[in-house]
Amino acid sequence: MRYFFAFLLGVALLALTVFGIAGRRGTDFRKPPLEIFNDMVRQAKLRPQVPNSFFADGRSSQHLVAGTVAQRIGDQGNDTWQGTAQNTGMVPGTTNFVATIPVPVTTALLDRGRERYNISCLPCHGATGDGNGITKKIGAMAVVAPLVDAAGKNAIIIPDGQVFRIISDGKAPNMQGYAANIEINDRWAIVAYVRALQRARFATLDEVPAAERATLK
Ligand code: HEC
Repeated sequence: MRYFFAFLLGVALLALTVFGIAGRRGTDFRKPPLEIFNDMVRQAKLRPQVPNSFFADGRSSQHLVAGTVAQRIGDQGNDTWQGTAQNTGMVPGTTNFVATIPVPVTTALLDRGRERYNISCLPCHGATGDGNGITKKIGAMAVVAPLVDAAGKNAIIIPDGQVFRIISDGKAPNMQGYAANIEINDRWAIVAYVRALQRARFATLDEVPAAERATLK
């Protein structure tokens, strides 16, 4: 009998201990009642702009490494008014679009442009830029602007810089901006490829090299 009471007492103590540590079901705690491993909330780290003895100059925030170049929209040099033509598509110091692509147009750039166009633009604007991409076919987008004119008369007659800005900022109301998805150089590559699509659209048979003509349907 004595052992039985001792056992009961043990069970009661155990229950009390578990209850004391874990608490009641549904109780809210400000801090975890039991923290076996430190949560990442509490960790050794540098807070910005405070004294810290880790670095020689005694500050937690350090200067950028000398020679660091700003690269992306929002960084210095990409302001549409002050930035370079390559970063903004604008003539610096003006509100004018640059007329022609400010980077060297090479075969490699065009290849890159075709690849990027086929990833980012083709679903809406179509493989040839006629505006008949899959989004139109399935009815997700009723009207997609053609980048080349089906009638063969004229293409979008806007400066290269404006095409760059439309890729970057989108075009209201239906096209979103792709600045976050497509790097600056790739945007120019796409501009070059769009121009190539237009050129191909309006080319005459005489412009096709004789050797290639037979392969045309
Ligand atoms: C989700 C579908 C969609 C994607 C993807 C898309 N566009 Fe567009 N784009 C549109 C639509 C819709 C318009 C017409 C905008 C409007 O007036 O509402 C348009 C308009 C344009 C225009 C202006 C045409 C004009 O006549 O002024 C250009 C240039 C253009 N897009 C280029 C591109 C390029 C280059 C890409 C790839 C980086 C791209 N778009 C990706 C849907 C898209």
